[in-house]
Parts: sequence; C-alpha cells; structure tokens
Amino acid sequence: MNIVLVGTQWGDEGKGKIIDMLTQDADYVVRYQGGNNAGHTVVVDDKQFILHLVPSGILHKDKICIIGNGVVVDPEVLIEEIKGLRKKGITVDGNLLISDQAHIIFPYHKMMDKVREAKKGKGKIGTTGRGIGPCYTDKASRCGIRLADLFNDAVFREKLKENLDEKNAIFEKLYCCEGFSFDEIYRQYRKYKPRLKKHLCNCSKVLNDAIAEGKSILFEGAQGTFLDIDHGTYPYVTSSSATAGGAITGAGVGPRKINKVIGVAKAYTTRVGEGPFPTEFSSRMMEKIRTKGKEFGATTGRPRRCGWFDAVLVKHSVRLNSLDELVITKLDVLDECKTIKICVGYKIGSRSFTDFPSDIGALSRCKPVYEEMPGWNEETVRITKYENLPKNALRYLSRISELTGAAISIVSVGSDRKQAFKV
Ligand code: IMP
Repeated sequence: MNIVLVGTQWGDEGKGKIIDMLTQDADYVVRYQGGNNAGHTVVVDDKQFILHLVPSGILHKDKICIIGNGVVVDPEVLIEEIKGLRKKGITVDGNLLISDQAHIIFPYHKMMDKVREAKKGKGKIGTTGRGIGPCYTDKASRCGIRLADLFNDAVFREKLKENLDEKNAIFEKLYCCEGFSFDEIYRQYRKYKPRLKKHLCNCSKVLNDAIAEGKSILFEGAQGTFLDIDHGTYPYVTSSSATAGGAITGAGVGPRKINKVIGVAKAYTTRVGEGPFPTEFSSRMMEKIRTKGKEFGATTGRPRRCGWFDAVLVKHSVRLNSLDELVITKLDVLDECKTIKICVGYKIGSRSFTDFPSDIGALSRCKPVYEEMPGWNEETVRITKYENLPKNALRYLSRISELTGAAISIVSVGSDRKQAFKV
C-alpha cells in the first residue's frame, strides 16, 4: 500500500505525529518537497523530536527513509540533524537515503531570501528565511546545483562560479550588500561530501524497485495545501508542490502507484506568515488557543495565527488532493470552548458562496459565514477510543466530515504517540 499524506490547511497540522503512526505499516518513508522550512514534531515517551529534513520515519527501526529529488537540501542543517538524532540514540546510517537530484541550498539563497523580504517591507511573504524560495527559483531557471554536481568537481566549480557572478552582482548593485567568496563556499561545501556520500541514491529507482517487490511507501508531505505554489494562496505560499501531486514529481513515482491519499487537518486553523485568513480569531480567543495549542512555529518559533475551522478551505483541499481520508488533530485544544464555530461559506458584500476563491484579492475581502455548535467542556486528552469522545465532540467531527465530504479516519487528542485513535 503506497500512501501520500498531506496537510490540508496552511501547514503545521500535526503531520509528523500521524506519519509516525502510519510508519508502522510502511517499509519506506519519503519526503518529496520543501526543505528545512518544515518542522515535524514527534513525541516518543516524553522525548520530543523536531525533524526538519529527515523523514519522521527515522524514529522507527528497520524503515528506510528517503529525501526525494523534490526536496531542497541545506547540507549543514542536514548534517546537524543527523548528529542530533544519533546523540539521542537514533540510528542514521544505511536507513537514510538522499536523492542525488535534490537541489542544494547555498548561503546566497538564504541571503537572497532575507534581502528580498526586507525590501518588500509590509508586502513581505513572511518566509522562514531558510533560502527555500531562492533555491527553487534557481531550480526553475536551470542554474541550480544538485547533490550529484557536488560530487563532480569540475561541474561544481563551474556552476558555483556562474551562480556567484550573477548573485554577487545582484547583492551589490540591487541590494547594496556584500556578496560571497567563491573560495569560502567551495571549501565549506567540499567538507560536506564525505558526510553525504554514503546516503546518496537514485530515488526513483530505489522506490520503483521497492514497489515492484511489494514494499509499502509512505510519502510525507511538508507544509500544507494552501502553501502549494500552484494551488495555495499565491503569492503567500512556499515554492514547492505541497499537494499530493508533488509526491509524483518529487520522488519519481508514477500516479498509478499511489493507492491512497490521506489529509491532515487541525480541529481549528492556523497559519504562519502573511496572507489572507478569513476565520482568524480576534485577539482574546487568539491568545487562548495559541497558548493551549502551543502554536509557535517548530522551525522559527514565530507565533502562529489561529482561527476557527474553515470547512470551505478543507473541502477545497479534499478535491485538490483527491483525499480518501481525513485525520483530525488537536481536538483537545478546543476542550474548554463553550461554543465552537465552523466556517461553512464566505460572503463578500451581499454575495454568498461556498467555493474557495482563487483570487487573493477576493479572499482578503471574504467574511466567514459561521455555523455555531455547543462545545463539550470536558477533557479529551485521556480518551483512547473514538466512541468515548464527548457527544458534542462527536457531533463536531461528524459535521466536519459532512461539510468537507471526507471520511475521518484518525482523531488525535495530544502530542504523544499514544494520544490518537482510529475511527
Ligand atoms: P518559505 O517556505 O520559507 O519560503 O515560506 C513561505 C511561506 O510558507 C511563509 O508564510 C511561511 O511561514 C510558510 N511556511 C513554510 N514552511 C512552513 C511550515 O512547515 N509550516 C507552516 N508554514 C510554513
């Protein structure tokens, strides 16, 4: 069984933990897009692991983890992450493979990310500053440097020089800041080679061979549907394909090999960075949910913006990803709410509609139309069976399923591995 798991909102849906659960039935776990802008949190026996590049499957013995060709890799971050995992007693050896076609993040990408954002001022995207956008820009403009290039010294030198000639001119002339030295970067990146060499692979071949042998693959999406470069709230998006389609190109596996697509949604909504957010809370409720849900970015520590569950948004996600199932996380965060709102449509002036608008201007003007439900006012963190949830919680979940058109398969009520159950 080959499964793609995606975020259905703006990322941070709690995918790390669900991936960790589903890994039990998988042989391979694959990241296919994004980079260290992601932060997947998994708690095992009170030990917290935050993974930025390495697939969450690494926490399980005997699973092969792959960083696919669609991922952008910052070697320094990756090497540090591997070191950190080993320190915590996790084996990272032949069980971690990295596509040699993955593009490399360089210091000039990170710098470009920062100066572009600074120049945009109020109109900034609110990126994570990890160089993700500029690295994907180079990939699309065909001047990017892939891991395979790092291992061909003549090619690496030539490409790095070409890139630096161009980027340094931009830094100096357009952004009035200093560029980078070829020698420094060349030396720094050469040092990474021995650490990375044994992990390199042809991702598409490894996966297709595994599928032919009847192995199960779990594709671990990062970010979320509304941060997808094509289908998200452009331009307030990341630069990769965070929808299910990204798994196909980002790992080199054909669409007919995918058996199931699972979406993860929080029981409410969050977003980090700029961009429209129709169901965003007012300040009092924001503070309450942010504190209870520990809504601070796993990568940047930035406070996340929080709001009510938006069924219009998730319904759109169900369609975009052909979701077979929906997982609801962090239900417990709503335990103390007297009433709970679900957004069932939008209004612009006197016009009402229930489809997600593609025009960002229209989305910014949308006022949510809410349905209100009574809360359950009961602790859910110790519940271990779906049918034991409070009646009003069951009603809430059933309404979400009805409005989004997706069957709910797992509900999570806390950060620990054990605090989740099948429906
Ligand atoms: P970038 O991916 O760093 O270019 O950031 C672009 C947008 O995506 C910003 O709004 C970020 O806050 C958001 N973003 C990127 N990665 C994540 C993530 O893993 N979770 C939530 N938001 C993210």
